Amino acid sequence: MMTLQSIVAENPGPLGENLSLVSSTSSTNDDLKMSSRRGNGEVRVLVADHQTAGRGRLGRRWHSPPSVNIYLSLLTRPNALNDAPPLALVAGLAVAEAVEETSGVVAKVKWPNDVLVGARRLKKLAGVLCEAVVGPPPALVIGIGINVNQESFPPELRDIATSLILETGAAHRREPIIAALLRRLHLRLTQAENGSLDAVLARWSERSSTLGHRVQCADGLVGKAERTTSSGALVVTDDRGAMHQVMAGPLFELD
Ligand code: BTN
Repeated sequence: MMTLQSIVAENPGPLGENLSLVSSTSSTNDDLKMSSRRGNGEVRVLVADHQTAGRGRLGRRWHSPPSVNIYLSLLTRPNALNDAPPLALVAGLAVAEAVEETSGVVAKVKWPNDVLVGARRLKKLAGVLCEAVVGPPPALVIGIGINVNQESFPPELRDIATSLILETGAAHRREPIIAALLRRLHLRLTQAENGSLDAVLARWSERSSTLGHRVQCADGLVGKAERTTSSGALVVTDDRGAMHQVMAGPLFELD
């Protein structure tokens, strides 16, 4: 069974000092949003063993069965919401780095919020859901779901979702992955907030499955994904050479 002590024993770094674990909740993002409105704590991390109403982006459900995966949310308090760094990208990078460090599985990031793995075909291993709490005080909740030991997915997800056990053929302890994730989140968020956002986004670009590829955006725009801006937008050049800044997914990678 996963316990707080078994996570702390894996050295989660400074974010481990403010960590809570619950066996079951509706959604760790919802819990931290509520806690933020009550003004509790400066930075809080909540991990759940099970979610009964896990949420993904675009109103989708996030499949959250008990005792197999990682469901984690982090509450941060940026000075102002409107010039906060692009946290979905920063967090996605931290997830990919933590997965690779602990499992050896090469992990890519797909704009704006997915972590993909797969030797033959890339499938989604993890996703990030960032939500703002307008406040006062303003807050951002970064929710992260990582599929670790889930051996099967509902039919509609089978072709697009995967887990570490499906990729490696072996079960993985969740505690070292959570600890590595918290260390990586602390490092990358601190860098992004303290003048090194460009360096963080350069690491994101190196791991990107999106940049340099032909993409179709939510509004139908088709073109080549060139780079991200410092606010996290994706720059796409269409077939006539015109540049567009895309602010939100979903995004389909065409090649
Ligand atoms: C996505 O790819 O659509 C984002 C998925 C985010 C899932 C995580 S699990 C922990 C946190 N709580 C939620 O209800 N959602 C996020």
